[in-house]
Amino acid sequence: MSGMIAVYGAPPADVVDVPHGATQFSPLMPGAAALEQQAEGSLGELVMLAPPGTLERRYVIAHGLRALARGAPFTILAPNDRGGTRLRKETQAFGCTLQEDARRHHRIVTGTRPETLTAIDDALEQGRPRLIDELGAWSQPGVFSWDRLDPGTALLIEHLPKLRGHGADFGCGIGLLAHAVLVSHEVTDIVLIDIDRRAIACAEHNVSDPRARFLWADLRSAAISDLDFVVMNAPFHDAGAEDKSLAQQFITRAAEALGKGGVCFMVANRHLPYEAILKPAFKRAHLMIEAGGYKIYEAHT
Ligand SMILES: C[S@@+](CC[C@H](N)C(=O)[O-])C[C@H]1O[C@@H](n2cnc3c(N)ncnc32)[C@H](O)[C@@H]1O
Repeated sequence: MSGMIAVYGAPPADVVDVPHGATQFSPLMPGAAALEQQAEGSLGELVMLAPPGTLERRYVIAHGLRALARGAPFTILAPNDRGGTRLRKETQAFGCTLQEDARRHHRIVTGTRPETLTAIDDALEQGRPRLIDELGAWSQPGVFSWDRLDPGTALLIEHLPKLRGHGADFGCGIGLLAHAVLVSHEVTDIVLIDIDRRAIACAEHNVSDPRARFLWADLRSAAISDLDFVVMNAPFHDAGAEDKSLAQQFITRAAEALGKGGVCFMVANRHLPYEAILKPAFKRAHLMIEAGGYKIYEAHT
């Protein structure tokens, strides 16, 4: 079968083989191609580690099948407890005849793209980016807290002082925090950074201020320096799995990215032990507020 070979996400090597030279399509891998933009019938094969959220999963599977050439093979997998047990039904509903296997706590469905796909329009509609009335902002299933304002973010917005100078929103999501920061006229510019392409695309809709710049990047390797302030609701999940070291790296990067006299405002879940990381990374750091299961820290370089 000719056509580009596509991989979505990072399927575990002990569960399925990913063909050598496959093109990456995950929105969580900066620089990857976008399935939504892939021409219909242009892919020669697809291997996909399907994401956990139902709307997001049905959307990417539908887009993957749409982009596959008729008769081209697909392999779609997911951990049993993160959508795997639903894969067969969901993929069959798109008109596919398939085989299902189980390996290392994953379900794997394989088949070939049928002549005609059924019911994909509904999945494409439900998973697409759009204006969410309740949020008053653009969002998309799959991005962080996609259909509601995160309570931690809300608390940080409520307690943020007026900021000034050059700043950054680390892990900006759809941009609600940066939007609040830009209320201050003393902010010269702010860079919104996120590893999720979809979040950045929504943030571009939500933050139309000319002082904002957008960066689809992994913060751990982004070159940012001489800032006056950093705001963040640091993640503690990496590609869906709990990873406290990710927030630790966000804190270290914030301290490195700030110039002398810079300030970082950070919100975190109450149970996560960030004081121990903030204290050595910054000249001084203190707990500003603790409420509703969240803590807000202020830290200075
Ligand atoms: C807790 S959410 C906060 C989102 C947004 N600031 C808010 O308050 O609603 C953390 C964000 O960090 C992003 N993220 C996770 N790992 C990242 C990384 N290595 N580099 C940049 N962004 C990352 C996630 O995609 C997510 O949007």
